[in-house]
Amino acid sequence: VDSSDAEYLISRIRSIPDFPSKGVLFRDYLPLMADAKGLQVLMNALEAALPVPADSFDAIAGLEARGFLCGPILAARLNKGFVAVRKAGKLPPATISESYTLEYGQASIEIEDTAVSPGQRVLIFDDLIATGGTAQAAARLIARSGGTVAGYSFVMELEGLGGIEQLGDYPCSSLVTMP
Ligand code: PRP
Ligand code: ADE
Repeated sequence: VDSSDAEYLISRIRSIPDFPSKGVLFRDYLPLMADAKGLQVLMNALEAALPVPADSFDAIAGLEARGFLCGPILAARLNKGFVAVRKAGKLPPATISESYTLEYGQASIEIEDTAVSPGQRVLIFDDLIATGGTAQAAARLIARSGGTVAGYSFVMELEGLGGIEQLGDYPCSSLVTMP
């Protein structure tokens, strides 16, 4: 990402101390999305920084909730379908489910068991990677449904939590690193 774009993105990301629990500095990209220029800069940067060429994946999987905001915009720009990875209990049966640990707790995510077709190559998108627990759980869901993880795309990466290293050798991009 161009350094003036990175600066603009960072300037519109809001940081909230002690949310949702004490000691967590919560990073929120909603103000960036609310800003017309911010949304353009963001979407252009996500497209330019894809971790793999657009012709090497078939669909984008976005993670609830904040991965649902830009994931479908990116998918539409690239002429791909969008797969919703939801928090547990939101999807009708049949689903497959994975549990994971994140910076502030424990959770489960699910996809419909037919959401990914066998052999489909899927790019995982989310706003943020912290510990990497959520992204890895999404990768397990895709693998269990017979798909292949093509790579990961994030808006931001939280420094010091080792999330990207947890993802192994998969191609990965994040636009900005937040201290
Ligand atoms: C946030 C963020 C990622 C996840 C990253 O979502 O949007 O999905 O945490 O954390 P990790 O790398 O430690 O797993 P959150 O679970 O807060 O849900 P939300 O998007 O519904 O607000
Ligand atoms: N998910 C995990 N850690 C987070 C943080 N610090 N801000 C926003 N989302 C998060």
